[in-house]
Amino acid sequence: MRSKIVAGNWKMNKTLNESKELANELKTVVSGLTLENTRVIVAPTFVNLTGVSETVEGSVIEVAAQNMHQAESGAYTGEISGEMLKGIGLNSVILGHSERRAYFGEDDALLASKVDAALKNNLEVIFCFGEELEDRKSGNHFNVVGSQVKNGLFHLEASAWKNIVLAYEPVWAIGTGETASAEQAQEMHAFIRSIVEKQYDSGIADSVSILYGGSVKPANAEEIFSKPDVDGGLIGGAALKSEDFGAIIKAI
Ligand code: G3P
Repeated sequence: MRSKIVAGNWKMNKTLNESKELANELKTVVSGLTLENTRVIVAPTFVNLTGVSETVEGSVIEVAAQNMHQAESGAYTGEISGEMLKGIGLNSVILGHSERRAYFGEDDALLASKVDAALKNNLEVIFCFGEELEDRKSGNHFNVVGSQVKNGLFHLEASAWKNIVLAYEPVWAIGTGETASAEQAQEMHAFIRSIVEKQYDSGIADSVSILYGGSVKPANAEEIFSKPDVDGGLIGGAALKSEDFGAIIKAI
C-alpha cells in the first residue's frame, strides 16, 4: 500500500533560528496526531538541514533537501553532492522543481542524471514536473507532463522505483493561489499512473506515491487529498506556518 505524504518545500525561506522554531512547532503538532501510513517531510534550505534534522530528531518528521548536484564531487562551486546529503543523515531529495527548471535551466537530461546520482547514494527522489498554463490552454498538458516523467525516470530499472515519489505541480498553480481543481489533479495523477503502468507494471504503478503541489491550503487540502490517485501534497507557502501545515497534515 503506497504511503500518504505531506511534504513542505520551504524554498529559500527561514533563517536557522526561524527554521528550528518552525520545526519545533511542527514536532509538537505531529506528536498529537495519529498518522496511519502517512509520512511528513520538511525541506529547508541547505544551510538549515542539520539544524532542522537535530530539532525533529525523535519525531516522525523527515527532512529532505531541495536539490543536489549530479557529480560525486569536484570543481562545482556552490554545489552539494548526494554523498554530502547522505552524510548528514538525509534520506530524500527533491529534484526537478519547476523553479529549478525555469531559473537554473535544469532540463530532462540533467534531471535524469541527478536522479541517477541520488539513487546511487541511496536517496529517495521526490521528482517534480508540471505543465505551464499555455500548455494546458492548448490541450498539450498531458504530452508535456508525460515527456517530463518519461525523460526523467523511464530509464530506471523497475527495482529503482521503490525510491521514487512523484510530485505533479502545474506551474500555473505554484505560488499563485490558483489551485488546480481536485478533478484536474485526479485526472493528471491517473494519467501519470497509467503511463508508469504501461512502461513497467501495475505493481509499480499502484505503489508509487503521487503528490499534488500548487497552492495547497488548509481550505482545499481535504478535497484534493480525497481523490483516489492523489497521495498527498508538496506544499510551498502554507508549509511556512505550523498552523497551516498542521491543518494540511490533518486533512490527509
Ligand atoms: O514545491 C511546492 C511548491 O512549488 C508549491 O508552492 O506556494 O503554491 O504551495 P505553493
